[in-house]
Amino acid sequence: MARLVPSIFFVQLIFLLLCMEAQAGRLGPTPDDEVEALRKIGKEMGKKDWNFSVDPCSTDDPSWKTPKSALWPTYQNSVFCNCLKHADKSSRVCHVVQLCLEGQDLDGVPPPSIVKLPYLQKIDLSRNYLTGTIPSQWASLKLIYLSFNVNKLSGPIPSFLGNIATLKTLNIENNLFFGIIPPQLGDLVNLECLILSSNNLTGELPFSLTKLTRLDEFRISRNNFTGRIPDIFRSWKVIRKLEIEASGLEGPIPPSISVLSNLTELRISDLFGESSKFPLLSNMTGMKKLMLRSCNLFGTIPANISEMEALKTL
Ligand SMILES: *[C@@H]1O[C@H](CO)[C@@H](O)[C@H](O)[C@H]1NC(C)=O
Ligand SMILES: *[C@@H]1O[C@H](CO)[C@@H](O)[C@H](O)[C@H]1NC(C)=O
Ligand SMILES: *[C@@H]1O[C@H](CO)[C@@H](O)[C@H](O)[C@H]1NC(C)=O
Ligand SMILES: *[C@@H]1O[C@H](CO)[C@@H](O)[C@H](O)[C@H]1NC(C)=O
Ligand SMILES: *[C@@H]1O[C@H](CO)[C@@H](O)[C@H](O)[C@H]1NC(C)=O
Ligand SMILES: *[C@@H]1O[C@H](CO)[C@@H](O)[C@H](O)[C@H]1NC(C)=O
Repeated sequence: MARLVPSIFFVQLIFLLLCMEAQAGRLGPTPDDEVEALRKIGKEMGKKDWNFSVDPCSTDDPSWKTPKSALWPTYQNSVFCNCLKHADKSSRVCHVVQLCLEGQDLDGVPPPSIVKLPYLQKIDLSRNYLTGTIPSQWASLKLIYLSFNVNKLSGPIPSFLGNIATLKTLNIENNLFFGIIPPQLGDLVNLECLILSSNNLTGELPFSLTKLTRLDEFRISRNNFTGRIPDIFRSWKVIRKLEIEASGLEGPIPPSISVLSNLTELRISDLFGESSKFPLLSNMTGMKKLMLRSCNLFGTIPANISEMEALKTL
């Protein structure tokens, strides 16, 4: 009897080890330096509920993985990893590739320690209360997606963002940024979505933005820019959504807007300065939402607007 107890114990122990092995084989652990980085990131951002008793990459624990749901579309609490098999196929290694922490009342700063997650591709910190500005260390990241939509970041838009050439989405809508749009943003030649609305930006739009030939969406509403809407549209051949409402910019609407035949949503409003003829929109056959309010337009509305068969809002 005395020998039975330890042997049961050993059987249990071996079973447990096998399970742990299986677990590790299934997803693999997060490297120690990335776990350590997450601890620091949590402190810097004011994120207090990550459960470090479980491995961030190999868990379904809700403190690490609560995706968006239909019920809470503005909330998300997810850390996503990419896991790869080692060359000898005996184990896997994981790296953190996405931090999606939306609508969590985080009240810290954009975390400098994020640079210690070198595989990171997406940062979505929308709808929090982050203050301060984007740390200069982030210039070295290889991000594809960066959103601070609805926070309290302030200061000028950092020009080093122009170094993150991998970026496809940059959204800093609804913060307290002021000053000019740095011309360096024109270096983000892979950018598909640029959203700068609802800040306190000033100055003229830099001509360098013409280099953003892959833009799909451009929104700069509710700012305090000066000067005319520049003739920067010609090269944005694939753009679908363009929004310049109450931006501070002056008319007229550059006639070159006519070439943007892929537009499905065009909103321009509250233009001061010179009046414009109703722009030629006849090639924009996929238009769904068209708004040209308070733009000091004159002349007749082209009859062929009626050929926009997808139009829902005029
Ligand atoms: C953290 O995870 C461990 C393991 O699943 C669990 O036992 C513990 O209760 C969790 N802690 C919190 C605060 O949820
Ligand atoms: C915007 O900037 C102007 C001057 O540049 C300043 O007077 C104003 O208070 C700022 N507005 C906000 C909401 O920060
Ligand atoms: C825009 O700028 C002007 C002049 O710099 C300033 O008087 C005005 O308060 C600003 N508007 C906002 C909304 O910040
Ligand atoms: C509109 O978009 C399509 C792809 O969706 C593209 O093939 C086409 O060239 C675009 N139009 C223009 C004028 O570039
Ligand atoms: C519409 O497209 C055609 C063919 O590409 C072009 O010749 C014409 O100038 C365009 N119309 C406008 C108003 O841009
Ligand atoms: C649409 O109307 C404008 C102005 O009347 C005209 O210049 C243009 O050629 C028309 N486009 C088409 C496709 O009918």
